[in-house]
Amino acid sequence: MKFLKRVALSLVLFGSFYSSGIAGDCPGVESPDGKKVMLKDIPPGPRVYAIPDNCKLTNPKFVQKKAKEGRKLFLSRKIANCVACHCAPNATGCGDVGPDLTGYMNTLYKAEYIGGQKKDIQWLFQRVADFRVQIPPEFKNNPYFNTMTVNLTTKALTYDQVCAITAYLMTLK
Ligand code: HEC
Repeated sequence: MKFLKRVALSLVLFGSFYSSGIAGDCPGVESPDGKKVMLKDIPPGPRVYAIPDNCKLTNPKFVQKKAKEGRKLFLSRKIANCVACHCAPNATGCGDVGPDLTGYMNTLYKAEYIGGQKKDIQWLFQRVADFRVQIPPEFKNNPYFNTMTVNLTTKALTYDQVCAITAYLMTLK
């Protein structure tokens, strides 16, 4: 008798789960808005960016001027917060999750990226904007190559701010 009761109870429980939508195409069991909230947290897919015309990174004078803005953003905890993971000149309290970028243009920048990618200014702009397109499939599940923040696709930074930070990185010699 006890056994039959248990079977009946589990049938009832299963039935209510089933009809509440677990097997349907809307998984928002607890709240009809649940799916919307979840989708909001998923960042948009990786995107390739071109350097905008007004970001004149081939002009050394432009780079010197823009780098001052970029430096502030790089060091700012509230905006770009690159220092959370990277050290660079005068970056007090910097983290070491990512490589130290002191002297970057003469050191790591000269090395090939994973998968034999050659680095150039376009590559560097893309790195700051949305690094995800630079990760070859065999490294997609490697946490080290997937920790950096995505900045332009998520609108954490604007094109102008990405431009300024790229200019700053170009002055790290
Ligand atoms: C949450 C940690 C984290 C933050 C925040 C972060 N990075 Fe990184 N970054 C990394 C890691 C880890 C790597 C090394 C992995 C790789 O090379 O793909 C890296 C690599 C780099 C590289 C070197 C790529 C190369 O091989 O030449 C540059 C340049 C860089 N980051 C710039 C930035 C800038 C600029 C910011 C701020 C807008 C930033 N990072 C924010 C973690 C971070």
